[in-house]
Amino acid sequence: MKKQLIILKQLKMTDNYIADSARYKTMKYNRCGKSGLLLPAISLGLWHNFGFADNYNNSREILRAAFDQGITHFDLANNYGPPAGSAEEVFGSILKKDFTAYRDEMIITSKAGYDMWDGPYGEWGSRKYLVASINQSLKRMGLEYVDIFYSHRFDPETPLEETMMALDHIVKSGKALYAGISNYSPEQTTKAIQILNKLGTPCLIHQSRYSMMAREVENGLLDVLDDNGVGFVAFSPLAQGVLTDRYLKGIPADSRASKAHFLKPEFLTPELIANIGKLNDIALLRGQTLAQMATAWLLRDKRVTSVIVGVSSVKQLNDNIDTLKNIVFSKEEEEKIFAILNDL
Ligand SMILES: NC(=O)c1ccc[n+]([C@@H]2O[C@H](COP(=O)([O-])OP(=O)(O)OC[C@H]3O[C@@H](n4cnc5c(N)ncnc54)[C@H](OP(=O)(O)O)[C@@H]3O)[C@@H](O)[C@H]2O)c1
Repeated sequence: MKKQLIILKQLKMTDNYIADSARYKTMKYNRCGKSGLLLPAISLGLWHNFGFADNYNNSREILRAAFDQGITHFDLANNYGPPAGSAEEVFGSILKKDFTAYRDEMIITSKAGYDMWDGPYGEWGSRKYLVASINQSLKRMGLEYVDIFYSHRFDPETPLEETMMALDHIVKSGKALYAGISNYSPEQTTKAIQILNKLGTPCLIHQSRYSMMAREVENGLLDVLDDNGVGFVAFSPLAQGVLTDRYLKGIPADSRASKAHFLKPEFLTPELIANIGKLNDIALLRGQTLAQMATAWLLRDKRVTSVIVGVSSVKQLNDNIDTLKNIVFSKEEEEKIFAILNDL
């Protein structure tokens, strides 16, 4: 009986998907730096929960629900999974089934920089690696082009000119519409922007970690991007789930921390959880969940084009989208929050 129900559910999922006609009614779109591109204030990242190891129907439901609510920006990379590459394959499969008619309404990204395949050409920033990687990513996703292609990290051993020339080549050969960089320092970013400008492929966007708990980008990077008209997208805005109510009462069995890989349980000390509890109290007074307040906190800065959330369920996705109902903070709230952040 249970098997029959699962098959029925799968059959329902293969029904023709028609996107919600109200999908552009509530989402907020921000201009990406001084470019022509608008990105949704909330974007969806596929680092976790979209690999072969994850539930395909759940991934598909999340993508449908995201698009139905105006999320047009889907963030991938060559190594997302597990196993590496499988998030792009799963995404490509769902894209083909559900989103073929909507390709021109979507911003799809990929990146190359981290360890992807064996040998000397499977990571970092050489032209050899970047060009091979975009070709592989396009094949996995069944796409002719991605919208944004990123150098995923700065390579100290490869001349920056070579990495940027590879991005320029990828854009000019039509494999990507825009070039971006990720995890570059303010100094590396300044140089990368200058090189890309000379090549005639301006740097569209920078993607870096940014949350209430990881505020390094406030020390120069956001200013460099603003001065140069380059957009900024924040990754891990919820500190992988720590800045939510998920861990206030222990470590749930289905949570990222329970897998002890990217988010280690030992990181969740009693002191940290006590401070997260204080933030949670402020969020509740604002009529928000902590996840919503943590996202709103980043979006109150006009230099932040978009915040890329990860979700393991449609419920979490919906919760995060509702952030946009209140992204304004009073002076008093800001003071209280800063006092807690200083202790984090
Ligand atoms: N460029 C880079 O180097 C880089 C690096 C990292 C990430 N990224 C990008 O950024 C994206 C987001 O990163 P991330 O997944 O670490 O982001 P995150 O939004 O900080 O954390 C996502 C996790 O938080 C929990 N969560 C999300 N919404 C919640 C809610 N409303 N209530 C309670 N818990 C909630 C879920 O944990 P559970 O799974 O436990 O439910 C979810 O998996 C990635 O998918 C990727 O696209 C880029």
